[in-house]
Amino acid sequence: MRVAVIGAGYVGLIQAVGLAHLGNQVALAERDVARVAEITAGRPPIFEPGLPELLSATLANGSLTVTSSNTEAVVGAEVVFLALPTPQGDEGQADVSAIYSVADELAPVLSEGCLVVTKSTVPVGTNIEVGVRTGRPVASNPEFLREGSAITDFMKPDRIVIGTKDRSNVDKLVELYRPIDAPILVTDLVSAEVIKYAANGYLAARVTYANAMANVCEAVGADVRDVLLGIGYDHRIGFSFMRPGPGFGGSCFPKDTRALVKLAADAGYDFSLMAGVIATNEEQLARTFAKVQAAVGGDLSGSRVAVWGLAFKAGTDDVRESPAVAIVTRLVDSGADVIAFDPQATAPGISIAESALDAVAGADVLLIATEWPQFQRCDLQAVAARMRGSAIVDARNLLDPIAVRAAGLAYTGIGR
Ligand code: UDX
Repeated sequence: MRVAVIGAGYVGLIQAVGLAHLGNQVALAERDVARVAEITAGRPPIFEPGLPELLSATLANGSLTVTSSNTEAVVGAEVVFLALPTPQGDEGQADVSAIYSVADELAPVLSEGCLVVTKSTVPVGTNIEVGVRTGRPVASNPEFLREGSAITDFMKPDRIVIGTKDRSNVDKLVELYRPIDAPILVTDLVSAEVIKYAANGYLAARVTYANAMANVCEAVGADVRDVLLGIGYDHRIGFSFMRPGPGFGGSCFPKDTRALVKLAADAGYDFSLMAGVIATNEEQLARTFAKVQAAVGGDLSGSRVAVWGLAFKAGTDDVRESPAVAIVTRLVDSGADVIAFDPQATAPGISIAESALDAVAGADVLLIATEWPQFQRCDLQAVAARMRGSAIVDARNLLDPIAVRAAGLAYTGIGR
């Protein structure tokens, strides 16, 4: 099937390469010409395992073409996916102006029966407006890709959600996704839009519950790892997505949780539970910063802090809304001399070391902020020998406190 994908960001690029790999003829449109050049040269602008290989293969066999013109991309397309940024507006709502301006641009050139599918996370009602502006049938097809496993999540999703007013629009999408073995939920447009927010809201709440339980454990002297194991054996709870940390970040959870509270409020419901998740998450960042501050005796000015990890989570180079970067900023603002190391990510204005061990040279305290596996395998004796101080703040509970103390270092974890 001839398909167009508008927007070559984290979502659009994966959607385009994935559908091309499934045998469709895909035209990917991206307005940033430098990004178009990178992608056309087979160099993905984002770090995703498996993406370089798929991108090269689909470019080589011609199933994927890349252009900077939206109108060129949609020529002859039976389905057009809108994978455009929907950044957070100033009052928490998602800004859908990019979606609407592209809908207006494409309306005159879309083929008659072309199905316009919104892939981006959008507030309730956006798809209906896209249908009005384009005069074409619309569907909502939210994505659930996680950064760092986006290709796997595309090829083996837990489910495919299709929201549409007119069930005849479903056939094209079912045909497109036929090679993928996953349950397909067909629902109405509004429910599909809510499902995306509900999923991210729940997952953010789950992580935040683990963080809050860690804080309870710190207060009463329990070990949060055992507590979360103890409840996780309950099949209704499970173990996934409950690793305490410095708070959730990334381009989705912070934006989507706020948008969820806002869209509920605009509809007359005070989603105080979700507002509490947001507040607790911000508190988790402050608590992690305070642990580093305490580790140097309270006054950070003149101290040297090594930070392992800048990405908002392991497996990605993305630093958007990264708790690690937010904590580094607070450390620098408090007068600390910070040097960081991350296997994939960098961030502007932060001194970067060549290696994890280089970063700890002369440091008074080491903060582990991202759960890269290589940090778990670090040589603690070598770390102790290089540091000036002897404190480790392990904000991802990666290390074994007994091993850290055996190396002559002081250990502070999350909930332990
Ligand atoms: C998320 C959703 O998982 C995905 O389905 C959606 O499509 C996009 O948003 P992503 O933002 O890539 O994906 O990251 P995710 O793996 O969900 O982690 C989000 C944040 O929660 C990260 O900061 C991560 O470090 C944190 N987290 C996650 C924890 O602190 N503990 C956990 O156990 C899991």
